[in-house]
Amino acid sequence: MCYNVLVMAKIIQNYKDCIGCGTCEALCPKFWKMNYDEARASLIGSKKNNKTEEFELEIKDKDIGCNKEAAEVCPVQVIRIE
Ligand code: F3S
Repeated sequence: MCYNVLVMAKIIQNYKDCIGCGTCEALCPKFWKMNYDEARASLIGSKKNNKTEEFELEIKDKDIGCNKEAAEVCPVQVIRIE
């Protein structure tokens, strides 16, 4: 029997309120990259939700780890995982 269970999560960033602290990139460079022109970090590969103006990216369960850390340490709490 084969169980094809792919647990997914969503990372959400309120980009406009990011203050460019950079800890997300330091902790989780596979997903976060500083955009120095705007003094903010971008969530790599994310798409903008035009209703909320936030950036969103679906990730596999195994990739939650460092993103969770980034969410916890972001000084302005603009990252969340659902
Ligand atoms: Fe911005 Fe928070 Fe990263 S302020 S640069 S999203 S740690």
